[in-house]
Amino acid sequence: MVEQVDAKKTSSTAKSSRFTGYAGQDSKVVKMDKVDLSELPRMSSGLSELDRVLGGGLVPGSVVLMGGDPGIGKSTILLQSLCKISETDSVLYVTGEESLQQVTMRAQRLGLATGDFSLLTETQVEQITTQALMQKPKVMVVDSIQTIYTEMLQSAPGGVAQVRESAAQLVRFAKQTGITLLVVGHVTKDGALAGPRVLEHMVDAVLYFEGERDGRLRLLRAVKNRFGAVNELGVFAMTDEGLKQVKNPSAIFLSKYQDPVAGSAVMATWEGTRPMLVEIQALVDTSHAPQPRRIAVGLDHQRIAMLLAVLNRHAGIATYDQDVFANVVGGVRVMETSSDLALVASIISSLRNRPLEEHTVIFGEIGLAGEIRPVPNGQERLKEAAKHGFKRAIVPEGNKPPKPFDGMEVIGVSRMDQFIQLI
Ligand code: TYD
Ligand code: MG
Repeated sequence: MVEQVDAKKTSSTAKSSRFTGYAGQDSKVVKMDKVDLSELPRMSSGLSELDRVLGGGLVPGSVVLMGGDPGIGKSTILLQSLCKISETDSVLYVTGEESLQQVTMRAQRLGLATGDFSLLTETQVEQITTQALMQKPKVMVVDSIQTIYTEMLQSAPGGVAQVRESAAQLVRFAKQTGITLLVVGHVTKDGALAGPRVLEHMVDAVLYFEGERDGRLRLLRAVKNRFGAVNELGVFAMTDEGLKQVKNPSAIFLSKYQDPVAGSAVMATWEGTRPMLVEIQALVDTSHAPQPRRIAVGLDHQRIAMLLAVLNRHAGIATYDQDVFANVVGGVRVMETSSDLALVASIISSLRNRPLEEHTVIFGEIGLAGEIRPVPNGQERLKEAAKHGFKRAIVPEGNKPPKPFDGMEVIGVSRMDQFIQLI
């Protein structure tokens, strides 16, 4: 059951109506070429990886939702970003979870310089907007939306109605004042933002902070962005001194071992606007279950089943009595079809228990007819691999560069059987 506000009779609606900017008296139709764009320049968030995910920085007056599991580092990244911004602009950190001392101590422990940095511990949204209006910060953080409530509703903070209503008020406030707002939202166990996705359509950008809780790596991903591309990936490492930006993620995602092992292949994936080398691992083992298992971590299950069928049909390699496990090293998710070739290579390598040739990068899409299809941005992927010392690349014929590639042999394949022969 979701509690709804009756807009007509609550007196408190009138109180906060100064923020309802939708049906105001001054609304009028404007020609597109007359729209004033002077206010749009972006400001840096102080962290280039965060800027990258935002599509080039924070847009004034925009509202960004930062989602993620508790303890993943949402407060940390925003604190680091705000401290950096506070050197040039005024910022306000509203916390409903931590005390002023906790936040300040963390900033000090991380050695963050603070300039014009204000703090507020408050959980009532009306109070927050009133205080923020007096403070007039350039950028404001609300940590977290689950602790915020509005006096218009009787229900407890954290509920769907409270989360939605408080967020709506904050969004209106940001739009009308031009204050850039970053809102933290905890994700529930099933992966949905608590107050199930009710916030996603209200805000301008939704970022997810993810990663293994015990691992060091943290990935920041945009799932919605009104001002830039989605699927852009920012990479951070959690250290004793807070989050460190990882400028060269390829180096981290390749696992380091001395001798080549069976069941592992390196591919070049494309994340947003940059290539990244990741390692795909497969383990194929005799199945004792009536239904052989196909388990994928960081890859699409359905796709594995499909590729195994193609493998059987077009290369005569049967896996119906085998369990197949696949994993992308480093907790990365690869949802691109360009992983097909590398995945198949690692499956065959594990099945035959023979490592693939070293220093080889493989990418390409496999079609149902056993054909190998080109993928976007082939050149950039090859360049990234060459940069990391790869000597050989197996790619779709259509991705083969017209000119020879310096320092790397590029082999084009167009059919599944040809590819299997080759590896
Ligand atoms: P936090 O930003 O408080 O998480 P969230 O706001 O998403 O709930 O991050 C907390 C975790 O990060 C905590 O478990 C410890 C770890 N951490 C470090 O390892 N190093 C650090 O310098 C900081 C500040 C936190
Ligand atoms: Mg926190």
